[in-house]
Amino acid sequence: MKYAIISGSHRTQSQSGKVARYIAARLAAISPEASSHIVDLGQTPLPLWDEGIWQGDPKILDVWKPVSTELKSCDAAIVIAPEWGGMVPAALKNFFLFAADGSLYHKPGLIVGVSAARNGAYPVAELRVSSYKNTHLQYISEHVIVRQVGDVLNEDAPQSEDDGLLRKRLDYSLSVLAEYAKALQSVRASGVLNRKEYPFGM
Ligand SMILES: Cc1cc2nc3c(=O)[nH]c(=O)nc-3n(C[C@H](O)[C@H](O)[C@H](O)COP(=O)(O)O)c2cc1C
Repeated sequence: MKYAIISGSHRTQSQSGKVARYIAARLAAISPEASSHIVDLGQTPLPLWDEGIWQGDPKILDVWKPVSTELKSCDAAIVIAPEWGGMVPAALKNFFLFAADGSLYHKPGLIVGVSAARNGAYPVAELRVSSYKNTHLQYISEHVIVRQVGDVLNEDAPQSEDDGLLRKRLDYSLSVLAEYAKALQSVRASGVLNRKEYPFGM
């Protein structure tokens, strides 16, 4: 099983990146045969999507193609969305325009909202309303909100009760995601899906 972990912050040294690395380590610990690929939109930013991609503009394609190839080889995605101004950062919305190329088509997605304070619910709501239509990423009902992100997931062992509870919740959600990843393989192989005729959701 291979997982894509998308860190949606623009910041090069972001807390979302820290969460992404923690999740990659947990996936490896939970199932040693699992692998993951982190797409950190702060460290390797994508250009703003533009229609040059349809004409094969190398300025855009050369950056996107390697990311798309990695996503295509994954069975599931974890989308880490920091709350910025009560929203998902623009880099993450931009990512979803690129990812409408079929690379996440009918793969399960786990949303992880991130907040420096006690929020983090807005990005979860926003992603559940948008972002899946043309990517066909299938968000599972479990999601995780990492609150007070500066205080958690910093050391090998939990440093507080909240840190411990969050780690347990993350492990549980990753285990659920793994089962959906197995299950949706059969949906993709069923022959029912028709991306040629219906590439865009309604
Ligand atoms: C432009 C900007 C806007 C932010 N707005 C919010 C917000 O609306 N709610 C919130 O809980 N945190 C907000 N934060 C704080 C982030 O939650 C915090 O930076 C956290 O570390 C996650 O972002 P990061 O992954 O970029 O580090 C904001 C941060 C930035 C940079």
